[in-house]
Amino acid sequence: MSGTITAVKELIVRAQFDDDPPDLNELIVIQNGHGTQLLVDHIESGGMAYCLNVRNDLRISKGMSVERTHKGIEIPIGDATIGRVLNALGDPLDGLEPITGDNTQRRDILKLPSRTSDFSMAAPEILETGVKVIDFFTPFVKGRKIGIVGGAGVGKTVLTMELINNIARSGAGLSFFAGIGERIREGHELFMTLKDNDLLKNTCMFFAQMNENPVQRSLIGISATTGAEYFRDEQHKDILFFADNMYRYVQARNELTTILDQVPNEGGYEPTIFSDVKILQDRLSSNENGSITSVQTIYVPADDISDPAVQFIQHEMDSIIVLSRKVAEQGLRPAVDLNLTSSSLLTPEIVGERHYVLTVQVQALLQKYESLKGIIAIIGENELSPADRADYAKAKKLITNFAQNMNVMTKHNGIPGDFFSREETLRSVEEIIV
Ligand SMILES: Nc1ncnc2c1ncn2[C@@H]1O[C@H](COP(=O)(O)OP(=O)(O)OP(=O)(O)O)[C@@H](O)[C@H]1O
Ligand SMILES: [Mg+2]
Repeated sequence: MSGTITAVKELIVRAQFDDDPPDLNELIVIQNGHGTQLLVDHIESGGMAYCLNVRNDLRISKGMSVERTHKGIEIPIGDATIGRVLNALGDPLDGLEPITGDNTQRRDILKLPSRTSDFSMAAPEILETGVKVIDFFTPFVKGRKIGIVGGAGVGKTVLTMELINNIARSGAGLSFFAGIGERIREGHELFMTLKDNDLLKNTCMFFAQMNENPVQRSLIGISATTGAEYFRDEQHKDILFFADNMYRYVQARNELTTILDQVPNEGGYEPTIFSDVKILQDRLSSNENGSITSVQTIYVPADDISDPAVQFIQHEMDSIIVLSRKVAEQGLRPAVDLNLTSSSLLTPEIVGERHYVLTVQVQALLQKYESLKGIIAIIGENELSPADRADYAKAKKLITNFAQNMNVMTKHNGIPGDFFSREETLRSVEEIIV
């Protein structure tokens, strides 16, 4: 009742099972004296299992036999994971002991939790982030998703860190952080920031940064989600879930497709990636047990926002903050493109009549500003009608009003960070436009 390895190519190992082939997403173990585990990716007719070498273990060769485990990737789940840093397989990255103990369960990360029946969300609850541009244009509503979209180096990570810092500090529940395929030092910086602010006690961290193999990078978001689901469903907690960077999940899957020799689909992406993104996003949702509110960064390759993966991930978000290089070059931080930033949550029912009316007025002014800019380039500002000139000036003031200093940058640039209440943000806008 076992199989035999017939080929090894990079991270892909093929094993032939003449009878009793393993299930999809099952771990099989190599009889090489080291218990090397492989994850079954897919099985072809005739019992050929294509497996992923999850730990990039090199002690594998053709002819070795493999056994089924009848289990998937199980990670430790429970209170003992709070304050810890884990990899996609649930192993510690913080140099502390592996997570075990009576109160620790183990859960298969790829086994979908049973879907709960129709669930209607309670009255919307807005969490204050202290960042004007977010509280005004993309309100942070409990149980909803915000995407931070932008090209390289425009400030996605800094803004995410500011949100973690500002929201976690308010004591709003338990935070999860999934570091997916980004810089290694960023994981360390996040850990130190949380530690310095005594926030580790409310945070679980999962990392597979760019140094990790694509198998782990493709699993890390799923592992973190599995942990979050437990606290939502079993402990009825409200969860904040931060992922930096969701695009790297798609990218890791693509790398695997290339080594699996699968044919990509439209836009050069892995055939099932879009349904996989959808499944992950559906798991990151709220139900009658508790809520998951998420902030996900989305890298835009070559500043091309029409990239199919970028578009697809964006569709799953309730709000989109677009960061732009052009705005950053004007010295405005956070470098938000106010015209491209949007939210389906800017309704009178959710944000209230006052805020809603202000957003309509502000958006009209900002659009007018864009078209006036074109006219001014040709005829000059003095030729505008007095009304247009007044609107142009107001729009300019609004744009600078939405810039502010970040608390998480203080230790780098020595400038104290700002925190504005929603009331202060709304008032600052009213003062400009009336
Ligand atoms: N709000 C801000 N205030 C001051 N400086 C900022 C701000 N946002 C970004 N920066 C500067 O820009 C740099 C890059 O920002 P950040 O790492 O957040 O970009 P990113 O979009 O995450 O990039 P990547 O796609 O490479 O991950 C920061 O190290 C910092 O120097
Ligand atoms: Mg970043």
